[in-house]
Amino acid sequence: MSLADNKKIQKGAQKGGYCVGAFNTSNLEITQAIIQAAEEKKSPVIIATSESAIKYAGIKELSAIVRIMAENADIPVSLHLDHGQDKNIVIDCLNNGWTSVMIDGSHAPLEENITITKEIVEIAHAKGVSVEAELGRLSGIEDNISVAERDAILTDPDEAEKFVEETGCDTLAIAIGTSHGAYKFKGEAKLAFERLEEIRKRISIPIVLHGASSVIPEIVEKANKYGAQLGAAKGVPLEDIKKAISLGVTKINIDTDLRLAFTAGVREFLSLNPEVFDPRKIIGAGRKAMKQVVMDKIDIFTSHVFNGGLLNG
Ligand code: G3H
Ligand code: 13P
Ligand code: ZN
Repeated sequence: MSLADNKKIQKGAQKGGYCVGAFNTSNLEITQAIIQAAEEKKSPVIIATSESAIKYAGIKELSAIVRIMAENADIPVSLHLDHGQDKNIVIDCLNNGWTSVMIDGSHAPLEENITITKEIVEIAHAKGVSVEAELGRLSGIEDNISVAERDAILTDPDEAEKFVEETGCDTLAIAIGTSHGAYKFKGEAKLAFERLEEIRKRISIPIVLHGASSVIPEIVEKANKYGAQLGAAKGVPLEDIKKAISLGVTKINIDTDLRLAFTAGVREFLSLNPEVFDPRKIIGAGRKAMKQVVMDKIDIFTSHVFNGGLLNG
């Protein structure tokens, strides 16, 4: 199939009551792991590329890798710009086949975020490309945080309603206590589910959860066993992911869990096969580990219940 319209993937998820994974890539093998896993599970999938991934791999190279693999796959695959902040990169993506872009103005005050987002919505919609925006700041909720501090970080439902109405964005990333990376919580994981419920009542567009890796303990243990030093790594528990989906999240972003799986897989392989020096075998071990993680995520997100009918509306 040619690269899929992200809006259709998201609408299918909303209608079908499942969530679609957006997995970050920056090279050939990560993309293979994601698309092969999605194909085996018969699930739609979103391939996400950050600005730094584009700088690392090259915009034409990365788009060609994803586009060709999507064309050879028999499931819907969309190509999404993750955390776009530089207008020039957003425009480059629009000119290089991305079927979805995120404009992340979450660092700016509300009115400025609205202005930045609105401008990108106009440009992207003119090309038929959907736009994800972000409101609120991604940060773990710690025990000693005050109500005022918490309110300043998390997405405000009133603001979310105004933001969506004024910007015309197609999907909204919200902050309910998740954060990027492998060290999300110092103590117990805490998410503000009451906010999510309130926001879900106020806006009808798909809701996106960033920073949603679970930092799977067995994978961290394996990486550490073979020499990594990943101390107090902690992610979002699976029950919380399932609860967020039950409350209406239809896109979940995963990067860290793939990075950890790659690291554990490669470290284990190198340690058990000290005589091997073929990069394909070494990277291949990382690819295999990432593919398993994507397959497990799809089971949790239940996007394998997808069928073509839902996509077509
Ligand atoms: O949201 C951030 C993603 O994990 C991408 O991170 O900028 O290191 O590619 P990156
Ligand atoms: P993780 O770091 O939890 O995988 O989050 C990734 C993400 O939100 C990419 O946009
Ligand atoms: Zn993110």
